[in-house]
Amino acid sequence: MSADKKKGWLIAPGPASKDLAVGVAERLGSDLIEIDTKLFPDGESYFRIMSDVMDRRIAIVQSTYPPIDRHILQLLFLAHKLNEDGAEVHVIVPYLAYARQHRVFLQGEIVSLGVFARLLRSVGVRRIVTVGIHNVEGLGLFSIPAYSVSAIPKMAEYFDKIYSLKEAIAVSPDLGGSVRVEGFARVLGVDYFTLSKVRDRVTGEVVLKEMEKDVQGKDVILVDDIISSGKTIELAALKLKDSGARRVFATCVHPLLTGDALDRIKKAGVEELVGTNTIPSPISKIDVAPLLASYLSTL
Ligand code: R5P
Repeated sequence: MSADKKKGWLIAPGPASKDLAVGVAERLGSDLIEIDTKLFPDGESYFRIMSDVMDRRIAIVQSTYPPIDRHILQLLFLAHKLNEDGAEVHVIVPYLAYARQHRVFLQGEIVSLGVFARLLRSVGVRRIVTVGIHNVEGLGLFSIPAYSVSAIPKMAEYFDKIYSLKEAIAVSPDLGGSVRVEGFARVLGVDYFTLSKVRDRVTGEVVLKEMEKDVQGKDVILVDDIISSGKTIELAALKLKDSGARRVFATCVHPLLTGDALDRIKKAGVEELVGTNTIPSPISKIDVAPLLASYLSTL
């Protein structure tokens, strides 16, 4: 074991994820490094590292929710400087932006996640840890070790504890979420199925195909990775209600909740919407700090 490993982790709180960084540090019994941070009136970010990080293993915690490109650049700045100061730099990016563009869907598109991956490596990042990556194929774009921690069991435990929904059905709004919903249903010990969603890649419009399962009189929990505009969950909830579902709940890993997402989901009759704190929001009730700390402690 190297000297810096014996000393354990130092945690660097990125401006986007200070609370989460504190949570991870507390669970690991690690120190937080001191960073002087400010935002200039024109939007530029300023950082000054106040701690000695020479020969230490550091995990920067910085989620990349909106303003996405600013949060990414801040992460790159911090990683670059900590690497320059002699630290072994690892990054925890709880919400990994651009993960939905992990491949070319339409000719001429950029594999944005691949560019992000290259940038992280170029500033000396040795490893990336994220939570609930949109598609595990995205991990293959990194030439450094890349790992996605699953928050799905924690999300299922939340419903088990609060509602004890033994007769419920877990539903994924699209085929891409079938592994997620299966894992969720297994923890809860309930049945599950997957709706078929088609998104127009040019207009972004979402259409849900006909549902074959019977949800009459049942409680349903919609499980998704990201809620952005809220249209996917809105459509799915309306369809389930139309089909006779008793109550519809919804949960997601990353509550981006852009625009009027919360409102439209509420109007669609969703009983409770709950997400994790990879992104701070009014519904971020499920804490991923224990998952991240426990993963770091294995390294
Ligand atoms: C898509 O494949 C994702 O899993 C989510 O379903 C999607 O990103 C949700 O987006 P929105 O809330 O804008 O419908």
